[in-house]
Amino acid sequence: MTRQTVIFKDLHPYPETEMKVAIISGTPRSNGYTSELIKNLSAGLKNAGCEVNTVTLFDKVISGCNNCGVCQKKGNEGKCTIKDDMQPLFQVVDDSELLIIASPIYMWQFTACTKAFLERLHCMYDSLDGKRIALAMTMGDDEYVASYAVSGMLDMCEYYHMTYLSSFAVPYADKDEVNRPLYAEKLKDFVNRITG
Ligand SMILES: Cc1cc2nc3c(=O)[nH]c(=O)nc-3n(C[C@H](O)[C@H](O)[C@H](O)COP(=O)(O)O)c2cc1C
Repeated sequence: MTRQTVIFKDLHPYPETEMKVAIISGTPRSNGYTSELIKNLSAGLKNAGCEVNTVTLFDKVISGCNNCGVCQKKGNEGKCTIKDDMQPLFQVVDDSELLIIASPIYMWQFTACTKAFLERLHCMYDSLDGKRIALAMTMGDDEYVASYAVSGMLDMCEYYHMTYLSSFAVPYADKDEVNRPLYAEKLKDFVNRITG
C-alpha cells in the first residue's frame, strides 16, 4: 500500500480500481522478439497498477471480415455472424479500458492474424467510440518500416472514433535489443503516457 493510499484510505472507502489493459499479441512466436517486448510491457503495466490480459491471436482461428453486412443492420450492432475464436474477444475488447496492439512488422504491415483481428472489430462500430489504443511493435529494419501500419491505425482510430495514444517500436530487433537499458527507459515513459 502506498503512503498516499494509507493517508487517504478513510476518505476513499472504495478499493483503488485498476485500469484494465488488453494486450493483443499478433506474433506467431511465443518465444520471439515481440513476445519478449510484451513480457516487459506487461511487467511495466502491472507495476503501474494495471490489470493486464494478454491475448495471443496466432493460436486461434480468426478469419478476416466477410463483409456479410449483418452487423451494419439496425438492431444487429456488435453482432458478428462468423462463429470462430474472435467471438469471446469482442467481450475482451469491450471490457478493456486500454487496448494495445502488439505485432511484429511483416511485409511493412501488422501480421495477418493482427489484421484479421482488426478487420473483425468492424462490427463493434458503436462500442469502439472512445476506446484507447496504443501500439507495440518490433521490426527487423528501421522504425520507418512501420509507417504504413501506424498510419493505417491512425485512420482507423479516426473512422471508429477511437483515441490513439502512442506507439512503441524496437527496430533492428532481437532479444538483446529488446532488453537494452535504452528500451527499458523508453518503455517506462510509454507506460506512463498510455496509462496517465
Ligand atoms: C514474413 C516476414 C516478413 C517480415 N517483414 C519485415 C518488414 O517488412 N520490415 C522489417 O523491418 N522487418 C520484417 N521482418 C522482420 C521482423 O519484423 C522482425 O524480425 C521481428 O522483430 C520479428 O518479431 P517476432 O520474433 O515476434 O516474430 C519480417 C519477418 C518475417 C518472418
